[in-house]
Amino acid sequence: MRSLILGGEGMLGRALVAEARRRGFAALALSRAVADITDAERLSYWVESWRPEMVFNCAAYTQVDDCEERRDHAFAINGAAVAHVAAAAQQVGASLVHISTDYVFAGTASEPYPEEAATAPATVYGESKLAGEALALAYEGALVVRASWLFGPGGANFAATILRLIDRGDATLRVVDDQVGSPTYTPYLAAALLDLAAVGATGLVHYRNREPVSWHGFASEIARRVAPQLEVAPVSTSEFPRPAPRPAYSVLDVGRCERLLGRPVARWMDGLDDYLKRLNRET
Ligand SMILES: NC(=O)c1ccc[n+]([C@@H]2O[C@H](COP(=O)([O-])OP(=O)(O)OC[C@H]3O[C@@H](n4cnc5c(N)ncnc54)[C@H](OP(=O)(O)O)[C@@H]3O)[C@@H](O)[C@H]2O)c1
Repeated sequence: MRSLILGGEGMLGRALVAEARRRGFAALALSRAVADITDAERLSYWVESWRPEMVFNCAAYTQVDDCEERRDHAFAINGAAVAHVAAAAQQVGASLVHISTDYVFAGTASEPYPEEAATAPATVYGESKLAGEALALAYEGALVVRASWLFGPGGANFAATILRLIDRGDATLRVVDDQVGSPTYTPYLAAALLDLAAVGATGLVHYRNREPVSWHGFASEIARRVAPQLEVAPVSTSEFPRPAPRPAYSVLDVGRCERLLGRPVARWMDGLDDYLKRLNRET
C-alpha cells in the first residue's frame, strides 16, 4: 500500500511511517516544512510526484490551550486545510485516512461515546477538529479515526512529562484524578490505522487502548515501573486551571473498531511497557 503521510514528523506520523515500512509498504512522510497542508498547490505537487494509494493526514495544530487564543490558526489547519488534503487525495484517486479526537465530545458522559453520539466540543481545538472531520467525510470513502490521549516515542505527551518530573527528583507528584480517558499508544494506533485501511473501513471509527483510567491512575502506573518510592497524590481539576477546559470523561466506544479489526483493542499498559523499553527506562 503506497502511502503519503502528512504531519510525518509528529508523534503519530513517526509511528505510522515506521509501521508502514515495517510491513514493507512504500511510505513517504512529509513534515510541515515541505508539505504545509494549508498550501493546496504544494499538496497537489506531492501527490502528483508520489502517486499514493493512501493519504494519511496526521498533521494538526495540537496545542490545545494555544488554540483558544489562535482560533483562526486552529481552524485553518485543523479545519479548512483538511479540504486541501481531501482534494489532493481525489486528484490521484487515493483513499483518505484522517485523524480526529475525543475532544469533539463535551466530555461529560458517564459511558463510552459511540461514533454516532452527539458532538459538542468544549474547546476551540475540538471545534476546529470537528470542522476538519466534516471536510474529510465529504470525500467519498474517507475514513476518520477519532483517538484519545496519545503517547509514544518522539513526541510531547503526558507519559514523557511524568518521566521528566520523576527525573527532576520531586518527592511527590500531584496529578488530576477526576478526568477519565484512555491512553493510546501511537505504535498501536498506527497498526490499527493500517489494518482499518486494509479492510476498507470508511466513515467514523473510534480507537483507543483499554482500559479507561484517570490521569492519576496513568501516572501511578508509570511511577510504579520507574520510581516505586515516589508518591503520586490525587488532586482535582480545579487545582490545575487551564485556558481550554479538559473533559471529565472522554472514553470512546470501540465496538465498531473491534468488529472491523476482528480483535480487541490493545492494552495501554502493554504500550507503556514497550514505551519504557524503547527509552531504556524499564525496571
Ligand atoms: N496527542 C494527543 O493526545 C491526541 C489525542 C487525540 C487525537 N489526536 C490527533 O492525532 C493526530 C496526530 O497528533 P500528534 O499527537 O501526533 O500531534 P503532533 O505530535 O503535534 O504532530 C502533528 C504534526 O502536524 C504538523 N503540522 C502542524 N501544522 C501543520 C501544517 N499546517 N501542515 C503540515 N503539518 C503541520 C506538526 O508540525 P510542527 O511540529 O512543525 O508544527 C506536527 O509534526 C492529530 O490529528 C491530533 O489532532 C492527538
